[in-house]
Amino acid sequence: MERTNQNGTLRLQDVGKKVVLLGWIAKTRKLGGLFFADLRDTSGYVQLVSEHPDELPDVRNEYVVEVRGEVRKKDVPNKNLPTGEIEVVIEKLTVINKAETTPFIIADKTDALEETRLQYRYLDIRRPVLQNRLKTRAKIVRLFHEFFDSHNFVEVETPVLNLATPEGARDYLVPSRLHHGRFYALPQSPQLFKQLLMIGGMERYYQIARCFRDEDLRADRQPEFTQVDVETSFLDQDQILSLMEEALAKIFKEVADYEVKLPLRRMKYWDAMDNYGSDKPDTRYGMLLHDLKPLLSDVGFQGFEGAEYIKGFVVEGVAGETSRKKLDELNLEARKFNLKGVLSLKFENGALAGSFTKFLDEEKQKALIEEFGLKDGDLLLFASSPYRRDIDFGLGALRSKYAKELGLIQPNTYDLLWVVDFPMFDPIEGEPGHYSAEHHPFTRPRDEDLPLLDSKPEEVLAYAYDIIINGYEAGGGTLRIYDHDTQWKIFKILGLSDEDVARKFGWFIDAFKYGVPPHGGIAFGLDRLCMILTGTDNIRDVEAFPKNLQAVDPTSKAPGEVGEDQLEAVGIEIKKEA
Ligand code: AMO
Repeated sequence: MERTNQNGTLRLQDVGKKVVLLGWIAKTRKLGGLFFADLRDTSGYVQLVSEHPDELPDVRNEYVVEVRGEVRKKDVPNKNLPTGEIEVVIEKLTVINKAETTPFIIADKTDALEETRLQYRYLDIRRPVLQNRLKTRAKIVRLFHEFFDSHNFVEVETPVLNLATPEGARDYLVPSRLHHGRFYALPQSPQLFKQLLMIGGMERYYQIARCFRDEDLRADRQPEFTQVDVETSFLDQDQILSLMEEALAKIFKEVADYEVKLPLRRMKYWDAMDNYGSDKPDTRYGMLLHDLKPLLSDVGFQGFEGAEYIKGFVVEGVAGETSRKKLDELNLEARKFNLKGVLSLKFENGALAGSFTKFLDEEKQKALIEEFGLKDGDLLLFASSPYRRDIDFGLGALRSKYAKELGLIQPNTYDLLWVVDFPMFDPIEGEPGHYSAEHHPFTRPRDEDLPLLDSKPEEVLAYAYDIIINGYEAGGGTLRIYDHDTQWKIFKILGLSDEDVARKFGWFIDAFKYGVPPHGGIAFGLDRLCMILTGTDNIRDVEAFPKNLQAVDPTSKAPGEVGEDQLEAVGIEIKKEA
């Protein structure tokens, strides 16, 4: 078969050419004694035409065919197709393979259920929209390779069968056949190995690394996903961020023809939380949170008594359409984030309205109106909490829910920024004096905060940074601790005993005796970057064979049962459900 052209590349200048084409029949129709078909390959579609349908073999959708013919100009161009100015007159059509009727029609626009599309993913992948997403993904990977290569980074592969890693999600475990009762953990990230590479003197490492986390799945979370993982030695935070944002700018330019303005904005973690109610703020729309404690703590509302935090924000122009039912829905949403609920006031006909007004004298009402610059039709939502993160995350979630509902986000706009100065520790609610690591225990506290480690761990900030794009955490990293004393102090604050440390990280901590360079890095979520750059909010759209929300692969149906002999080999007996 000597294919002469890719179907989607044929243009007016090819008119008169004899061509040999291959591909799948996408659509057939008969019209006034003529036969038409669209022929699809990975480059796109071209229209085939025959004036002698009776001389053709039976061809149906998704048959694989070879077509010999001649390119001719179309009388009436089809503006929707890049090849729409020409068509190929069939001289000979050979069926290479037949196809049964497919479970759904293969076209970009489809109303097939996602589960069906995932079950027949190979058919779904025939849709150009999906192929294009996979091509964009490949392009992003290629651009990363080019960038890292030109900046003297070395790609190193790290093991997949590991001891547990420290990212904090649940591990996927692999039983050992040779060591019954022992398990490998699939890597949640290459974190410890990349640090060992720095201790090994590699200085600049990167890897396109598969990572595995057994956590609850969401639209932007898969149990296995890919990180563009980076580690460097002898660079400070500013140097790492500027190098990484250069890589991102290159990718946005070449993939989306979008000029990223460098240097990127850097927002402190607490500013992001206080103003946007999120550690991954989308700054493309307003509705900023305001601190209302000075105004509302003394109004006599019982719910606010003892509240450490009272905050609120305004949704413009929705007061009229905000029903009781809507407020109930907002309450439910707020409760998911540990808030007791959310209160509301409407601003209508130049005055505040709502049952909460009984707590507000004229002066307070005036102050509230001024605080937000309220206009007719505005809805003020507010809440209280003993915890700073709860109030911020709760109201932040409502803020982004409204932005989506009201269509406040312009499509094809990009909003990139760094969130920096994350807290080192996350106080465990209800357990005063107990902390978990906000990132992982190897994150380095800021030099100026080291003295606070003993007295006020909750105030210690870290050299930790996330790259936020359109409200997604598209990547995150930290500088790492490289001195023994600080490392042990951190373990102690996290409540890790010497035995815990020895068991979990002993093999890793040992390396710290032998000359550790200052080092730090980052990991980009490749899948999330692809989502953003292909304009989808579903991570499954940018993976060839994703898992569904139950962590099942709908194509192969993995996870599956295994035979008794296999279980025996790894020394495992399955507990029978009662
Ligand atoms: P972190 O845990 O923040 O950092 O992960 C880095 C980035 O990986 C992406 N990501 C995910 N994408 C899809 N599905 C998931 N389940 C998922 N989990 C994480 C996110 C996230 O920003 N070792 C550190 C990095 C470092 O410190 O250098 C780490 O793994 O985009």
